[in-house]
Amino acid sequence: MRKKIIAATWIFLAGLVAGAQELRLRPDNIDEIVRAMTLEEKAHLVNGIGTFWGGSASCRTLRDIPGAPGGTYEIPRLGIPALYMGDGPLGLRIDETRDYDNHHYYATAMPSSLLVGSSWDSQVIYEVAQDIAEECRDYGVDVMLGPSFNIIRNPLGGRTHEYYSEDPLLAGMLAGAFTEGVQSVGIGASVKHFAANNQETNRNAVNSVVSQRALREIYLKAFEVAIDRCAPWTVMTSYNGINGDWTSENRELLEDVLRGDWGYKGMVMTDWGGGVHPVQQMLAGNDLLEAGSDRAVQEIIEAVKDGRLDESVLDRNIHRILELVVKCFSFRQYPFTNRPDLEAHRAMARTSAAEGAILLKNDHEALPFAPSVKKVAIYGKTGYNVIPGGIGFNESNSGNYCISLVEGLRLAGYTVDYDLIKKHPKAGASPFPFPFGPQQDNADADKEISFTPDEYRAQTAVNDIALVVLGHVAGEGSDRIKPDFYLNDSEKQLVRDVTAAYHEAGKKVVVLLNIPGPIEMDSWKDIPDAILCIYQGGEQLGNWVADVLKGAVTPSGKLTVTFAKDIMDYPSSGNFPIAEEKAQMSGMMAGGMRFERKDKMTVDGERNKDYTVYEEGVYVGYRYFDTFGVPVSYPFGYGLSYTTFDYSDAKIVKEGDKFTVTVKVTNTGKYDGKEAVQLYVSAPKGKLDKPKKELRAFAKTALLHPGESETLVMTVSEQDLASFNSAMSRWETDKGTYTFHVAASVSDVKATLSGKVSKPWYQSVRNVLKPQVPIDERKAPQR
Ligand code: BGC
Repeated sequence: MRKKIIAATWIFLAGLVAGAQELRLRPDNIDEIVRAMTLEEKAHLVNGIGTFWGGSASCRTLRDIPGAPGGTYEIPRLGIPALYMGDGPLGLRIDETRDYDNHHYYATAMPSSLLVGSSWDSQVIYEVAQDIAEECRDYGVDVMLGPSFNIIRNPLGGRTHEYYSEDPLLAGMLAGAFTEGVQSVGIGASVKHFAANNQETNRNAVNSVVSQRALREIYLKAFEVAIDRCAPWTVMTSYNGINGDWTSENRELLEDVLRGDWGYKGMVMTDWGGGVHPVQQMLAGNDLLEAGSDRAVQEIIEAVKDGRLDESVLDRNIHRILELVVKCFSFRQYPFTNRPDLEAHRAMARTSAAEGAILLKNDHEALPFAPSVKKVAIYGKTGYNVIPGGIGFNESNSGNYCISLVEGLRLAGYTVDYDLIKKHPKAGASPFPFPFGPQQDNADADKEISFTPDEYRAQTAVNDIALVVLGHVAGEGSDRIKPDFYLNDSEKQLVRDVTAAYHEAGKKVVVLLNIPGPIEMDSWKDIPDAILCIYQGGEQLGNWVADVLKGAVTPSGKLTVTFAKDIMDYPSSGNFPIAEEKAQMSGMMAGGMRFERKDKMTVDGERNKDYTVYEEGVYVGYRYFDTFGVPVSYPFGYGLSYTTFDYSDAKIVKEGDKFTVTVKVTNTGKYDGKEAVQLYVSAPKGKLDKPKKELRAFAKTALLHPGESETLVMTVSEQDLASFNSAMSRWETDKGTYTFHVAASVSDVKATLSGKVSKPWYQSVRNVLKPQVPIDERKAPQR
């Protein structure tokens, strides 16, 4: 009998052990898994396994993806796999080579977000994102760390190239399209950097001091729009603080606004090394700490033990992490190939970039090249060392593969002046080492190669047209310095000399701007015949620029940021770290990375470094220039085409609370082309001062052949017209008559319509994120 009891007990215990072993994560047993986890496991799971960033050392992953910045902790006994995060958003960034084989792990270097965003075409961005996500999937990466779409508050911001726009609706819609594209492949997106992360100088510790209105209408708005559109699997908080708290420690931002007001259901992670207090981050609802650290693991364990952190908070965060885990490819043990279809993605890198090219000027039909143009002269050092992308973790790893301008033109059938090639310095392999920016230590580094009048005469005799390529670069970790906004003397001289020489010979000059964001143009834009802004065009730069020059593609990009006459004209420039000179060790960049962080964020210390006050309020970008009547070089929304468009039959219809605006766009010129149409709305005079007009919708035609028309439809609801009243903590749409402007740019209105709101609309939101000090905000002049 005793033996039987012992045997039965053994069987029972063995069953228990087997049962426990069988407990495996499934989409429907997350609660049970959380209950089965030890405190140590929980503390680890909320800490990333940052690969090259440190991370929590006790977990070294089984299948490493070199160059992936991080991922999540694995707990094999519960069937919880590690997830991998890959950086973006301009392509997947992983290491090109690995220690154990000779294979090259390339990824496609897509064009900068600013360039593709200038297409004003969500579908293009969706497709680019799909290709990037396919590369993630094929390399075993579960989450793409993008889109990045902080508002371009000042063009000197180091990451301008990585962002979409100065306008929150446009930025949010395009980021939403990117997210949808990524997630349609089964890869998680991470919308970043949440929020008010608008400068790189001291980015790890700067306190952004912003009014509730500017936050809601501008800086949070872009995220609200994107999140509403596409439910991203993850959100990445930023490094900076908002009104006194690091974003990752800011309960008001994460629980009240993101999850409360907006109903966000996904997971939140820090930016890499963001924030200071792990316990506070847990409480704030920042579920995952990236890249994670052993210090944070220990602190969280101690805090639960001594009661500073309720274990249920940890459980809540873990629940959200596991909800992400079960959606990912790693959870399904997807047999990734390590062989993405790079060939197919090259086509996308080429066509998407061309969609964003902005024709700023085109006198005397300099573009497209006339059929008589066969020989092309390239001037400007950048012409022989083109800049495919900005600097930073957003870059992809194409192994320095980039189609040069010379190669692109040759493949398109042109002859490029060989003597000029020989006279320019050879392209460097990796000219922009991150994080210090381009090293320009010798005095001649900024100087362009110039020629004598005789040399120019000889060159104009053998070439049919001249291209002058001007290049500036910027990137993560530092902001651009003031002089970088202007062409330097030798660049201007080059534009003048080349134009004078070619005009004397009856030939034309086209300037290509290979730049990270706006530059000063007023003092020189009258000189050349044509100017094409190509921003930073990705690995297919030479090919697609040749497509546009040749006329195989008609440019249809329009500016998503204002090109002001002077850097000091930007409304944020008084409250932005504008440096006159490069900081030591940081090339042409200012500031550089700083990691010291105070325990608490205050409104003292060095202005624009320790704290930055957003005194321009909602008057960011065109909202300022247009409202205050400040002339610019090129307005928001501006861009020419090889063809011309006529706008007709503009109509507005109201049904329920929705206005539908239609307009017929006809191609009246002689080339195929597309047109991006914008709908701005002016509000009636009310209690709040408001921008003169604000972008409320946009649409783009398909490719129209000469004579063809398309009727575009744009809808705006009464809620979309709301402004934020901080005193009442609510969105308000006043009743009255609104003016709808159908426009080709903010300064080129083609038709004006009016629509009535017959009763006011209000929506209260949580009264949070108040600034620590009063802000002397800009107010619009009386209308
Ligand atoms: C950047 C993020 C990036 C992360 C991981 C950070 O420094 O701000 O955009 O995703 O690094 O590499």
